[in-house]
Amino acid sequence: MSQPHSDAMVFFGATGDLAYKKIFPALQSMIKRGNLNVPVIGVAKAGWNLDQFKARAKDSLEQHGGLDAAAWEKLSSLLRYVDGDYVDSSTFAAVRKELGTAERPAHYLAIPPSLFEKVVEQLVQSSCAKGARMIVEKPFGHDLASAQELNRILLSAFPESAIFRIDHYLAKGPVHNMVSFRFSNSFLEPLWNRDHIESVQITMAENFGIQGRGAFYDQTGAIRDVIQNHIFQVMCNLAMECPARSDSESMRDEKVKVLKAIPPIDPKDLVRGQFHGYLEEKGVAPNSQVETFAALRLEVKSWRWDGVPFYIRAGKNLPVTCTEVIGRLRRPPSTNITEANVSQNYMRFRISPEMTIAMAVSVSSPTVNGSREAVELVASRHPRPEEMEAYERVLSDAMAGDATLFARQDYVEEAWRIVDPVLKAATPVYVYEPHTWGPQEVEQHVVPPGGWDKPQAEEQEDFRLIGQPQ
Ligand code: BG6
Repeated sequence: MSQPHSDAMVFFGATGDLAYKKIFPALQSMIKRGNLNVPVIGVAKAGWNLDQFKARAKDSLEQHGGLDAAAWEKLSSLLRYVDGDYVDSSTFAAVRKELGTAERPAHYLAIPPSLFEKVVEQLVQSSCAKGARMIVEKPFGHDLASAQELNRILLSAFPESAIFRIDHYLAKGPVHNMVSFRFSNSFLEPLWNRDHIESVQITMAENFGIQGRGAFYDQTGAIRDVIQNHIFQVMCNLAMECPARSDSESMRDEKVKVLKAIPPIDPKDLVRGQFHGYLEEKGVAPNSQVETFAALRLEVKSWRWDGVPFYIRAGKNLPVTCTEVIGRLRRPPSTNITEANVSQNYMRFRISPEMTIAMAVSVSSPTVNGSREAVELVASRHPRPEEMEAYERVLSDAMAGDATLFARQDYVEEAWRIVDPVLKAATPVYVYEPHTWGPQEVEQHVVPPGGWDKPQAEEQEDFRLIGQPQ
């Protein structure tokens, strides 16, 4: 069912880093695509005026993707700015004034969750909450109890249907494509279950460190930063059943079912690591035990997946930057014509930096008689400039009221339930050298059958459409 479009965006945290790197470029792209034609009111406590705010927005576009003169002119005419404290009622009176006749604003909270309660209270008191949507940034809580508390605060003023919890990973085309690929090709689903799949591994590797975000990262760590949210979304898309309908709730119901089938992670199935040099980063405690790497094993106790281990690995300062999934199939039976050690078939889904879907098969070697070798059937393509960036998609969808790409209350709480015990277990943190695949202890404690894959830095584009000239 189509929802009314928000008629203004109020953007808390407008002078911050996220705004500078992601939000202004997303707003410009929305304008270029004709998806933004309402006032955008930035709110922050920076002591700035509107001209300074506009200068920051312009600089952001120049640094991140390039400024489009016509779109900038339009964006500049839509920008408003309110400077003030988030606990001060005069700030919200000024926001209400800037909203003018708007009746359905979308309030975007790109601010620390510790400020949510005050902001929500003030939005209600100043009548800014009436008819409004709430868009909230991650991290959504710190653990299960804090996520429940944040939900309580938001739901005290807004219905669930008006709350949009961002996980920008969900808006990446290749993450979304995993679902459509699975359910629009008939060859995969008969194999995509415990009868044929031996194990699944998901790697989110980044070849850079914490990029000056020490103060944030040292309160967060890899499990909270990317596993509980981004990687779990990928896992749900891999493991879910086909939704009965394509509406947001049918999709989100299936994802929640996956999480409900996952028992809390056992601390013995986790290895945490910290890259050598992390402790010297600005904002990091001198004796910090926060992980910049984690490898873990979990189970999905569903009819489809029971007995298939899922392995997850994520870290900073690893050898490459990419996110990749490998689903290994069980070995074929050993017969007179197949060697006992014939290579294993697998499906590979690469999410970034390129989108790749590959199937590994065993074929006769063209050079060694009677021998076999593994090759991949590959479809791979690089992102196109005209494709929507994740932040453009989430903001456009939230303004249009489409909740499909956002985490629902029950989803976030289930996700925290799964990681809660390991967050509290204080397991050891092992040091690893930058640009390696994490601490050596991983190879002793958390190893998929057949070992961890070693994803490559970049794939060649290789994607031929049927019917296209070669
Ligand atoms: C963010 C994390 O949510 O996602 C970062 O806070 C991480 O630490 C980033 O680098 C990865 O997202 P992307 O889209 O840059 O791959």
